[in-house]
Amino acid sequence: MCGIVGVVGLADCSETILDSLKRLEYRGYDSSGIVTQTKDGFGLQRAVGKLKNLSDLMRESPLAGQSGIGHTRWATHGGVTEQNAHPHVAGDKVAIVHNGIIENHVALRATLEAAGHLFSSETDSEVLAHLFLQAFDEGMTPEQAAASVLSRIEGAFALAAMHVDYPDMMIVARNASPLAIGLGENASFIGSDAMALSHLTRDVIYLKDNDFAIVRPEGAEVFDSAGTPVNREVVIVAASQGVVDKGGYRHFMEKEIHEQPDAIAHTLAAMTGADGTLSTPLPREELAQIDGIVMLAAGTSHYAAMVARYWIEALARVPVTCEIASEYRYRKPVTGAFSCAIAISQSGESLDTLMAMRHAGEAGLKTIGLVNVPGSTIAREADLVMPTRAGPEIGVASTKAFTAQLTALISFATALAEAKGAIDTARRDEIHAQIQKLPSMVGRALASFDEIRPIAHELTTARSALYLGRDVLFPVAMEGALKLKELSYIHAEGFASGEMKHGPIALIEEGLPVIALLAAGEVMGKAASNLQEASARGASIILITEERAAATVDFADRVVTVPNIDPLLAPVLLTIPVQILAYLTAFEKGTDVDQPRNLAKSVTVE
Ligand code: F6R
Repeated sequence: MCGIVGVVGLADCSETILDSLKRLEYRGYDSSGIVTQTKDGFGLQRAVGKLKNLSDLMRESPLAGQSGIGHTRWATHGGVTEQNAHPHVAGDKVAIVHNGIIENHVALRATLEAAGHLFSSETDSEVLAHLFLQAFDEGMTPEQAAASVLSRIEGAFALAAMHVDYPDMMIVARNASPLAIGLGENASFIGSDAMALSHLTRDVIYLKDNDFAIVRPEGAEVFDSAGTPVNREVVIVAASQGVVDKGGYRHFMEKEIHEQPDAIAHTLAAMTGADGTLSTPLPREELAQIDGIVMLAAGTSHYAAMVARYWIEALARVPVTCEIASEYRYRKPVTGAFSCAIAISQSGESLDTLMAMRHAGEAGLKTIGLVNVPGSTIAREADLVMPTRAGPEIGVASTKAFTAQLTALISFATALAEAKGAIDTARRDEIHAQIQKLPSMVGRALASFDEIRPIAHELTTARSALYLGRDVLFPVAMEGALKLKELSYIHAEGFASGEMKHGPIALIEEGLPVIALLAAGEVMGKAASNLQEASARGASIILITEERAAATVDFADRVVTVPNIDPLLAPVLLTIPVQILAYLTAFEKGTDVDQPRNLAKSVTVE
């Protein structure tokens, strides 16, 4: 989603800003822009589409200056046009960039227009430029202007503002949207996340909600919402190898699919204690106290939560509810039956998940953040962090983060079950041994690329597809449908196989692709019967299953097999062909696999 970068006090800063914007490209955007401060005022370039368009413009007319801000915009208010792209300049004196939504922008705009301010875009963000202009025109200092603007706006935001009279100064502020300040030797930097700054500095200050800061080359002064100076800790972020590359693969997604054995192994290592047994961020005695868990997540992370519900309830006999994060706090949930909330998020920045976690925390639940990005907002705000160690995930569609989440969650479920006395240590060790086999099993499942290629080729012409799974494979069916629709733009739905006969079976017509997930276990026979019902009505069955279960569905039109595995862990293994099918279908259709249309990697608006 929108990305912000800024530099104060670095000669010819526009190239550095562009380079930092490239590091935020993975978040998703549809236009971009950079403004710099020159001795003659602002230099501004904005372009619709990829950053290359902006960099072409900058090659034609370079932007001079040693301070400036850049932005990648993911449209919310107002279409994808150059006028709506950030930065926005008001009265040739103030330039701003903004991430988030100013909820009271309509009223503010009306007031500003009545006072004679002329707007040039349809965005909510432009009100910020005019509010700062008004404040400075009234003679306020930067600190007073920042406090005044913040007192007038509502919503979630991260913003940066510059004024022509203060060439080496930038105002930044945040509420619920991420923003980091990087401290260099003779220059300061700002970025939506530490990744944007990792090539510039490792010394980072994370602002708290409603903080603002005055950033100068020599450092940053931070103020709380009341305008009182406050100390915010300087955090040393881990060294980064810089921009992550595709490592010889065609797409980040293809690379990330192949990185899953490592992502799982590293995540498992993070869930393994010094004595070699499974461990969690909670000591055993506290685990034993857990009597109910609320899972909060969005999208693919929500499907990981749904798989975990089967595991935790079956193994530990602890009740679990899975909540779509964006719905949770607004339906005023009754929380009394739960003592713990697990917020699952690859980015650690999904605003829906963050807000849901805050709500759970305020209701007295202990919060655990299951996140992939260390230092992200959810990681910093959760009572405890349970990390996935998948490494940076750049492809917009989540792959390795999902299987890493599943690895952490089955480990957690097993440790919880043992602490609750629901399984003995022998069963715990048996499951642990199965989990340890996952990296090599997933490695073997990756060999299905060639087997899946012709199936993907056929799927490219489909208008719609259904994914079916039963029991612990039901959430994987929904994840498969999500992957196909977001990458290849083919309509797809995931259903619980047994639910088909209650309505969705009416959708079946001759040749409709039905991607069926099947594994050995209690419900295999019933799931196979459900597939028979679809096949009898003309569906084309694409069976994704374990080697030993393939013969159960001898009427399948296409079969993809993975190695046999403990039924508990089938969701992890069967996810692999599901991801490959979506990837290859999208690749063959020629869609933008790593940055599908309209999508953002880090969804920082509600
Ligand atoms: C789908 C996908 C999204 C994310 C969702 C939550 O492939 O990646 O559905 O899972 O936006 O993101 P995180 O996990 O970062 O909170």
